Amino acid sequence: MYFTPEEKIIGSDNFHDAVGSTRRDFLIGTVAAGTAAGATYFGYQKLDGNPVKVGWIGTGDEGSVLLSEHPPEYMDIVAIADLRPTNRKRAFDGDGNAERVGLVKKLGPDCKSKIKVYDDHKQLLQDPEIEAVVIAVPLNQHAPVAIDALNAGKHVLCEKLMAHNITQCKEMIKVARDNNRLLAIGHQRHYSVLYDNANHIVRQGLLGDIKFIRAQWHRNNSFPGRDSWRKSIAKEDAAFLEGKVDQYGYPDMERLINWRLYNETGGGLMAELGSHQLDACSIFLGKVHPIAVQGYGGRNFYGVKGVGSLDKQNDHREIDDHVYVTLEFPGPNYAEDQNDKVIVTYSSINTNRFEPYGESVFGSRGTMYVNLEKEALLFKEASPTTGGGGTEQRLHVLNGSGGDAVLNASESLAPSANAAVASAALEKISRGYTEEMEHFCYCIRNNNFDPPDKGGLKCNGTVAMADAIMALTSNLAMKHQKRIVFKDEWFDPTNPACPEEDEQVKG
Ligand SMILES: NC(=O)c1ccc[n+]([C@@H]2O[C@H](COP(=O)([O-])OP(=O)(O)OC[C@H]3O[C@@H](n4cnc5c(N)ncnc54)[C@H](O)[C@@H]3O)[C@@H](O)[C@H]2O)c1
Repeated sequence: MYFTPEEKIIGSDNFHDAVGSTRRDFLIGTVAAGTAAGATYFGYQKLDGNPVKVGWIGTGDEGSVLLSEHPPEYMDIVAIADLRPTNRKRAFDGDGNAERVGLVKKLGPDCKSKIKVYDDHKQLLQDPEIEAVVIAVPLNQHAPVAIDALNAGKHVLCEKLMAHNITQCKEMIKVARDNNRLLAIGHQRHYSVLYDNANHIVRQGLLGDIKFIRAQWHRNNSFPGRDSWRKSIAKEDAAFLEGKVDQYGYPDMERLINWRLYNETGGGLMAELGSHQLDACSIFLGKVHPIAVQGYGGRNFYGVKGVGSLDKQNDHREIDDHVYVTLEFPGPNYAEDQNDKVIVTYSSINTNRFEPYGESVFGSRGTMYVNLEKEALLFKEASPTTGGGGTEQRLHVLNGSGGDAVLNASESLAPSANAAVASAALEKISRGYTEEMEHFCYCIRNNNFDPPDKGGLKCNGTVAMADAIMALTSNLAMKHQKRIVFKDEWFDPTNPACPEEDEQVKG
């Protein structure tokens, strides 16, 4: 969606006004508590006891982001492991990217002599000092590495997507239960203060009746050097791993380094990008399971010979570079009337980034646009009875005739006092990584195996498996070119039924 700078300011003020006026006491309490916003938002506290002793498995791009964001008051990093010498170094020294500062900058130069360094996860898991691990390895290794860790008695926080298929997700949940260990999955939007507030707006009913959500993650790889998923193989890594990669589950070096591009090691755009946003959409819809999915996916850019400036004939990727899926979700009255559906459309493309990434929630009374995990804009529908609206109108929230909060047009040209309260409280927008790690440690120390609504991990195995089901069944719908109806038993961790084994899907 395109907005002028003025419209962006108004939309952001509107969002803050709505959050400030409906959560005013909570926000003031958050600031007064003086703790990290996440702790107040997500219901945990500072650790009572020593930080959890953690080992890091995988210090590539995402592992390094997590190292930079890790909370030392909750986590004591005692070891790291990575197959690639270049990434073992990067864990300490960073790589010049502000998101990956490296442990030396974060913890001080002493950490180099204190933190143990292993080549692979199996060595690290033998370390008795380690209580928990953070896993950030390629998708096809999530389940094997997490299962090894759980069987070694470690609690696990594993990056998303939970696993390469749903059979593996169910196995991970079972092994965690059998070993009485926590299993958390890193869909960070569950711990994002921005998304918590955006979800609050939806739950308050401020958008009215929601029938459509549109989400997208668009990138433009048509310019040379813009494909962040294709990397060159460092000589040092190749020399160190020569003749060894297959023992770690990668057929060759190419599939270890460029794992996202191949079906055996990755899950394509839906696993890497779409899973985050379908997760967000389902949070907005109350974490309900979808009814059905259909879609189109193709190698419409990298698969076309001789077009553009890239040498695509040498690009042997297997994954689609353009995906478009449509999911049907149940509306609030679906049980009584099966016409009550919310449609979510998702697209991820590689040839245009005019609209980079975000989710737009379209309601009968308002529209909310969450942009780049960083900001949310809110606009009111112009209506004959309530007047005002559109992208140029400031809003405030008032109580409607039934006492419910409704959006109202405001004559004011300046943001309200409520908007000021909210923007002060939300000054530092976190993407949720730090909070996800804090809560993981808090649950470990408090032996909390409760479900999310009772204060337990917000993205536990069962929650994350539902995200994996949405993403991977979308892939199956595109592959088999059919509308697939989701089955309740797929979402039940104790039931062996899985979409990839389903006759409806395969037949
Ligand atoms: N939450 C998010 O927003 C987000 C963002 C990006 C990536 N991710 C996820 O993080 C994971 C890692 O992605 P990435 O971009 O860091 O990939 P990457 O290729 O940059 O890093 C993966 C690292 O794992 C190492 N590794 C592989 N197997 C290992 C083993 N058995 N023992 C030790 N090290 C091993 C590799 O050598 C590599 O350094 C993926 O699952 C990805 O989907 C999540």
